[in-house]
Amino acid sequence: MKIDFANLQYQHSLYKEEIEQAVFSVMQKCNFIMGEEITGLEKSLADFTGAKHAITCSSGTDALLLAMMTLDIQAGDEIITTPFTFIATAETIARLGAIPVFVDIDEISYNIDSSKIEAAITPKTKAIIPVSLYGQPADMDEIESIADNYNLKVIIDGAQSFGSTYKDKMDSNLGDISCTSFFPAKPLGCYGDGGAVFTDDETLSEKLKSLRLHGQTKRYHHKYIGIGGRLDTIQAAVLNVKLKYYRDDLSLRQHVAAIYTDTLKEKNIILPFVKSDRTSAWAQYSIRIQNRDLVQTKLKEAGIPTAVHYPIPLHLQECFNYLGYREGDFPISEKIAREILSLPMNPYLSNEEILYITKKLSKC
Ligand SMILES: Cc1ncc(COP(=O)(O)O)c(C=O)c1O
Repeated sequence: MKIDFANLQYQHSLYKEEIEQAVFSVMQKCNFIMGEEITGLEKSLADFTGAKHAITCSSGTDALLLAMMTLDIQAGDEIITTPFTFIATAETIARLGAIPVFVDIDEISYNIDSSKIEAAITPKTKAIIPVSLYGQPADMDEIESIADNYNLKVIIDGAQSFGSTYKDKMDSNLGDISCTSFFPAKPLGCYGDGGAVFTDDETLSEKLKSLRLHGQTKRYHHKYIGIGGRLDTIQAAVLNVKLKYYRDDLSLRQHVAAIYTDTLKEKNIILPFVKSDRTSAWAQYSIRIQNRDLVQTKLKEAGIPTAVHYPIPLHLQECFNYLGYREGDFPISEKIAREILSLPMNPYLSNEEILYITKKLSKC
C-alpha cells in the first residue's frame, strides 16, 4: 500500500470542475488583482468564522507581519511566544526588529504554557502570540486574562487551525487579531501561498487593509509604510470553492483522528490530546515515540510517509543565536522536538489505510 500524506491530488479531483471554472473565469476577465473573488471570499470567511472582519493576504507569514504592524509593534518591543512552532511565528517578530521572548509549552497540548507567561513579562512586553499548534487552540481564557492585566495585545497564530474552536468560538474569532494560512497543505489550502487576518475591530480592520496595500488609503496616497501583501485573485477563486466544502473536510479530519486514537490507544505511544473545551482542525496527527528515526525509516519502507513538526525548537535555531538562549532553557519543547512524529493526515484516509498505518506502527 502507498499512503499519501496530505492527498491534495485526490482533493483536487473532487472539486476539479468547479475550481477550474472559477480560475478560468478570473483568467477570462484578466482581473488578477483584488475584485469580486476577494470581496466574496472575505465575506464568506467572516461568515464562516463569526469574526466581523476577514482580510485576505499573501500568506500566513504576511498575516502575522500585518497583524504586528497594525498593532504598532516597534523595534525593541518584546513579544512572548512559543519556541515549539514553525519559524514564521518568531521570524516575523524579529523581522520588525522586535524581540521574540520564548515561553515553554505544556506537555499535553504542546501549546504555550499559560502558567509560565507572567514570569516572562517585562515593561517592554507588548503582545503575546499563542500558536494553535497542529490545529488546537491554546488556553485562550488564561492568555486573554494575563493580556488584560498587563495591557498586552493578543495575536493568534492560527496558521494550522482554521475552523478549530475554543469554547464554541472559532479561533479566528479570538484575540485582538487572529491569523491563518492557506498554504496548500494546511487544512484549508489554496493552490499557492495565501493567508488571512481576522478582527472584530473596525479601526484595526481598516489599517490592516491599508497595510496590505502599501499603506495606501486612497490611490497613490500612503498613510503608512505597508507591504505588497494582497492575496492573488486566482487563489481567492480556488478558496471560494474549497470553503464551501470545508465543514465536511473538518468533520472528516475529526473522524480520521478519532479512528487513529481508537486504534492506537492501547499501544505504547503518546497520542495527541485535545482539551475538552476546544476542537482541533487536525492539521496534523502527531504522536510521540522514543525511537523516532528508526520508526520513520520502517514506515517509509512500508509506503507510509511521516514528518517531524518540528525537529529543532526556535530558541536553538542558528538565526536566533543572538537572543542568547541555550539548550536546556525550554526542556519540554526540547523533549517533544525529539519525540514528535506526524502521521499521514487528510480527510480522505480510509479506515483500511489507517489500520494499515497503525498496524505497521505497532510492529516498529
Ligand atoms: C504555525 C505557523 N505559523 C505560520 C506559518 C506561515 O504560513 P505561510 O506558510 O502561509 O506563510 C505556518 C505555515 O507553515 C505555520 O505552521
